[in-house]
Amino acid sequence: MTVVKSKEANKLAPERRTKTVGLIVGSLREHSFNRIIAAAIPELDTSLAFEWIPLADLPLYNEDVDHGDGPEPVRRFREAINRVDGVIIVSPEYNSGIPGVLKNALDWASTPAKTAALRGKPVGLVGATPGVKGTILSQQQIRQTLEAIQARVLPFHKMYVSQVGDKVDAERRTLTDDTTRKYLKRYVQQFILWIDQARALD
Ligand SMILES: Cc1cc2nc3c(=O)[nH]c(=O)nc-3n(C[C@H](O)[C@H](O)[C@H](O)COP(=O)(O)O)c2cc1C
Repeated sequence: MTVVKSKEANKLAPERRTKTVGLIVGSLREHSFNRIIAAAIPELDTSLAFEWIPLADLPLYNEDVDHGDGPEPVRRFREAINRVDGVIIVSPEYNSGIPGVLKNALDWASTPAKTAALRGKPVGLVGATPGVKGTILSQQQIRQTLEAIQARVLPFHKMYVSQVGDKVDAERRTLTDDTTRKYLKRYVQQFILWIDQARALD
């Protein structure tokens, strides 16, 4: 499992890295725009640690093999979610909804119900699209699934990136748009506050 931290966060003593945030990208595409947006997040708050939580190895959900720790990639996936203080999902929209790979992953993180990795976990949602509607419909479905799992999705705040092709340098794989960076930073700050607020609900 890759732990990525901004250069500054790496210099901080571990006790000052108060929180670790998992990053899940809902696209397996090598040149994913959503992955570029996710990769910009660790640079926005240098006091945090970040951990990429990949989906690519997860098998298709099958209740027949969902017992004990489950298949090894599932065990690793659940363990990674358990390890972090919160998760930010950065996902595209497919056919006005949630990408199948992400729904599959969320289903794996929803069992066993009482100890599910995502149950009670603070979650933030970000989405990017070359289109103009900013993954609104996809985020609604992701939120609906997360609420069924009893994850604690950051309320009120939304983070949509429309026309993402104009906001990144696709070759250098970097976010170039300052306005998007400003809103993303604000969203991440709200999410960090939410981690503490959500903990207080326990
Ligand atoms: C099967 C499919 C369905 C799509 N449906 C939508 C959609 O409903 N809304 C949208 O904004 N973009 C849609 N797109 C375009 C994606 O937003 C675009 O491919 C995007 O780059 C995918 O995210 P990624 O770059 O992170 O892989 C669709 C793409 C595919 C392949």
